[in-house]
This record gives sequence, structure tokens and C-alpha cells, in this order.
Amino acid sequence: MDLRSLSCKSCIVVIFLLLLVNDVRAYIPTKRFNVEAFGAVGNGRTDSSKAFLYAFTRACQFNGYSILLVPKGTFLVGPVVFKGPCRGPIDFQLRGIMRAPAGAVGMDHWISFRYIDRLMIYGGGILDGRGETAWHYNDCSRNSNCQSLPVSLRLDFVTNSVVRGITSLNSKNFHMNIMGCTNLRMERLHIIAPAESPNTDGVHLGYSEHIRISDSIIATGDDCISLGPGSKNIEVLGVTCGPGHGISIGSLGKYQNELDVSGIKVRNCVLDGTDNGLRIKTWATSLKSKVHDITFEDVIMNNVYNPIFIDQQYCPGGNCDNSKASSVQIQDVMFRRIRGTSKSQAAVNLRCSRLYPCKNIKLADINLSYKGPANTTCLNVQASAWGLQKPDLGACI
Ligand SMILES: *[C@@H]1O[C@H](CO)[C@@H](O)[C@H](O)[C@H]1NC(C)=O
Ligand SMILES: *[C@@H]1O[C@H](CO)[C@@H](O)[C@H](O)[C@H]1NC(C)=O
Repeated sequence: MDLRSLSCKSCIVVIFLLLLVNDVRAYIPTKRFNVEAFGAVGNGRTDSSKAFLYAFTRACQFNGYSILLVPKGTFLVGPVVFKGPCRGPIDFQLRGIMRAPAGAVGMDHWISFRYIDRLMIYGGGILDGRGETAWHYNDCSRNSNCQSLPVSLRLDFVTNSVVRGITSLNSKNFHMNIMGCTNLRMERLHIIAPAESPNTDGVHLGYSEHIRISDSIIATGDDCISLGPGSKNIEVLGVTCGPGHGISIGSLGKYQNELDVSGIKVRNCVLDGTDNGLRIKTWATSLKSKVHDITFEDVIMNNVYNPIFIDQQYCPGGNCDNSKASSVQIQDVMFRRIRGTSKSQAAVNLRCSRLYPCKNIKLADINLSYKGPANTTCLNVQASAWGLQKPDLGACI
């Protein structure tokens, strides 16, 4: 047998297999659906909602791999729901700008994708939520009949999907809300709103599993990333936050039957001038649930108000019954290699529940400096610490 021909045959097989694994999509019929072909006009003024919905419906029904293209231009759209299930994988290639209608629109979403498997959103384009035309409607702290403002991008029950390399600008409410999703990668995102804009959280997620948020820049008026009830196996890597309120787990304990939060890893992140750094927040008057298996590591703080913060008496509005103790059990949380500068004296602040004290909190190689002596507060915590401990963690262990 000729050895050379054998190895060549096997190399062809290997190359073929590699191609197949790398790009399954290349082997199924592909069709491009340009929203302009369906009547969308990229002049910034013509309402193109119908054209987008029509193009999406056609793309979704295509029995193959479809690419919904938003070309260069500014398209006034929404609110819209792109609803699956679709017949094949679908790309939403955003090259241009999608522009939201001005003002409050009486909906919880601007752009919503629901029940879609294998969705890819990418293309370097911009979602301009035009929050500046609506933030003044956000008076919920004073007005119980307040209008809720739309989230810019909602993904509900989306699976095996990617959101990559797009910009979200000035959302009216949260920039992105992820609900009921599984196996999602969100990467190279740029999320921007002014520091004083209300509730413009970068990415909020809940009731979702196997989500990775990476290599992104998030500058907003509220939480950079917040992980609500039912967040499970979530990775946050290489994210720079600030301004804003930092990376949060919670708030938790407010509603009936909240699912636990577990398997959260936050790594290689930078918090720049944020109000909080790494925070777990639960309401004092709260229902029972659990937060466990959380790792925060290799995080840099630049002038952060509360770098390490567990707050089981979370009370943003200021009128909570804090004589109550939270029923959310926090346990198995690691803070490792957290360094940089604290803007307040309270560099490490672990305020746990009297009813369900925090269990197994680990602090290792903490190096946080403050212009004066920084301090540590620990209430109802069972913690251990090793390596560098700056500030002194004696109060916690
Ligand atoms: C702690 O951080 C400061 C700068 O913030 C640095 O100069 C110092 O070397 C660090 N200490 C250790 C032991 O790593
Ligand atoms: C720690 O610092 C905070 C904020 O300055 C202060 O309110 C608190 O009394 C200090 N605690 C201790 C134990 O020194």
C-alpha cells in the first residue's frame, strides 16, 4: 500500500471534517433578506417596522440558513417582536443603525427576539434607543402610576445563539434583557448611556443558563451586568464597567418562587469609577432562595465606591422595613485577587442576614487601597481569608 496516498486520503477526510465542524451552515441553502428589499428606508424618518417584520417573517420561514440584513443607513423601527421558532438558523446582520421611536411607547420592549434557536446578531451596527427622549418619564420613585419604559433588546427563550460586536446606545430602560435563554454568547459589545440616566442597566439576565458575556465595554447609569433569579452557569469575562453601579447579583428575594442563583464566574474584569464593584444584593423583607457557588476573581477596581459588597438589606428607595432579616441564603462565594482603589473607606463590606448568615465566604489576595485607612465590615458572616489582606480582614474571620 502506498503510504503517501493513504496519508493524503486521510488528510482530505480530516480537512472535510474540519470544514464540516467549522461551518455547518455552508452546507445548507443560504438566502439573504435585505430589509430594503421589503420596503425599509434608511433615511432616519420613515417608519420601517412593517418592512423589518415582513423581512424577518420571510427569513424565519426560509427552509435553510437565512441572513436578515440591515444595511448601512438609519432605520426608524419599532417596537417590534421577531418571533420564532424559525425553520433554520438565522443571522441578524446589523450593519446600519436602528433608531427607536421618540418618547415612552407604552411597551416593555423596543426590539424583541423570542423563541429562536441559532440566532446570530452581529455586524458592527448600532441600536440607538433614544433614551434622552424618554428618561424624564421615569418617575417611578415618586409616581406609582409611572409608565414602564422599553428595554432596547430583549431576548426571550432564545437558545444556542450569539450576540457579537454591536453597539447599544442610550436605552430608555435596560439595554439588554435576557430571559429564559440557554447557551448564549454575548461578546465584543459596546453599551453606552450617560452616568445619570435612570435604570439603563447594561445586561440584565434571569432564568437563563450557560450564558457567557465577554470582551465588552459597558458604561451606563445603572448596573453594568445584573444577574437576577434563575441565573445559572453564567460567565462574565473581560468586561470593563464604568460609569455605573457595577456588577451585581440581585436584587433577590422580592418575588414568590424565585429560582436560586448559582455557578456564576466573574473573571478578568475592570470596574472603573463605579458606585459598587462586585455586589450581591437581597431585600431585607424577602422570600426564601439561595445564592451559591459564586467566584469573583482577577478584578481591578479603579476608584470604586464599594468594591466588595454583600448587602442583604438592599433598599434603593430608602423606605424598607429593615427590622426584618433576609431569607436569601448566600453561600460558597469566593473573592480572589481583587485589587485597586476604593473611593470610600468601606472597601470590604459583607452585611449578611441575621436569619441566614452567609456561609463559606472566601477572601484571598485582596489588595484594595483607600486614601486613608480602609476598613472592613462583616455582619453575620462565616468567612475565611488567606494571602494578602488589604484592608485587614480581621473583622470577618
Ligand atoms: C497592592 O497594590 C498596590 C497598588 O494598588 C501595589 O503597589 C502593591 O505592590 C500591591 N501589593 C501586593 C503585595 O501585590
Ligand atoms: C468604616 O468606614 C465607614 C465609612 O467611612 C464608617 O462609617 C464606619 O464607622 C467605619 N467602621 C469602622 C469599624 O471603623
